[in-house]
Amino acid sequence: MSAMVESAPPTAPAPPTKSGPSKNVNYEKPWVEKYRPNKLSSIVGNSETVGRLSAIAVDGNMPNLILSGPPGTGKTTSVHALARELLGEEGYKNGTLELNASDARGIDVVRNKIKMFAMAKVSLPANRHKVIILDECDSMTTAAQQALRRTMEIYSSTTRFALACNVSSKVIEPIQSRCAILRYSRLSDEQVLIRLKEICTFEKVSFTPDGLEAIIFTAEGDMRNALNNLQATVSGFGFVNQANVFKVCDQPHPTVVRDILELCKLGDTRKAVETLEKLTNSGYSSSDVIGTIFKVTKNSALPESLKLAFLREIGFAHMRIAEGSDSFLQLAGLVGRMARIGKEAGGEEGENDMKTD
Ligand SMILES: Nc1ncnc2c1ncn2[C@@H]1O[C@H](COP(=O)(O)OP(=O)(O)OP(=O)(O)O)[C@@H](O)[C@H]1O
Ligand SMILES: [Mg+2]
Repeated sequence: MSAMVESAPPTAPAPPTKSGPSKNVNYEKPWVEKYRPNKLSSIVGNSETVGRLSAIAVDGNMPNLILSGPPGTGKTTSVHALARELLGEEGYKNGTLELNASDARGIDVVRNKIKMFAMAKVSLPANRHKVIILDECDSMTTAAQQALRRTMEIYSSTTRFALACNVSSKVIEPIQSRCAILRYSRLSDEQVLIRLKEICTFEKVSFTPDGLEAIIFTAEGDMRNALNNLQATVSGFGFVNQANVFKVCDQPHPTVVRDILELCKLGDTRKAVETLEKLTNSGYSSSDVIGTIFKVTKNSALPESLKLAFLREIGFAHMRIAEGSDSFLQLAGLVGRMARIGKEAGGEEGENDMKTD
């Protein structure tokens, strides 16, 4: 069933450029960039963290910051939006220096480029500091991070640092102690859904609810991944439904995995392994399959005790696959064990007296 959106929701973000219906969409610009929020208030999710950044933007006295969290959750977007709100559009152009993993950031760069920028005179709004954005700072060498320590202190009257990274523990402790650490978490399915619907409205994309659900399923709380998959589906097929999304994302189809689980629940090992075989014969690796089995089981409506017993086995199998024994035998063994658990539980919903050995 197709649900064509007719009017923009009131909370819709303002896209930088207006676009026409999907057949006239400007495919040149990736939607992740086209719909990158410019303002902190347009950033979806992590409301507590973004709220703290908004408070800093109002106060004007920015501390050195580390933003840490999983990919595609809005860290880079947040630091740029913060710098823009602190310094204004003009100040943002002249008063920020961004260095990310694609730039040379060895010790020489920290010594020269960052110091030069920190020393340079720039006209900014009153009581504002220049901002140095060090994106993906967990990939900076330890020596370069060490060189940053004193630089951060010496120029603190004119310059503040905003660091973004995926793993804050890869930033050396002296830098962590100089910064306020703000954490980002994965976005919830609802938050991604709202954003996807807004963008579908702007781009006049027709979609089915299960199509968006499939995008959310594959994105796992990563907004960048969700937008990229949405755009890929639209440019490939012009219509977002479950089948098209899985053709683009190329992950094991969750309905097939759901069938396997259902067969395990009924204790039908043979059919379950046959279905699994079809999946692996289509070329998916063991880690793809086990990842999908985990996600589907976690979100399934299986009785709680059965779900926990399945997850326990999935965890062990995942560990073995991650360690390198990723043969079909490993997955077949898992399915066999799950089917035995299902059989012992009697295939009955809500059964509590099953054995999981
Ligand atoms: N919270 C969010 N609200 C709205 N859009 C978002 C959000 N997070 C990510 N996006 C979208 O995803 C794109 C990438 O986000 P961003 O660059 O901020 O991710 P990141 O957290 O810095 O990821 P990485 O750790 O990979 O650098 C943005 O251009 C934007 O379109
Ligand atoms: Mg980033």
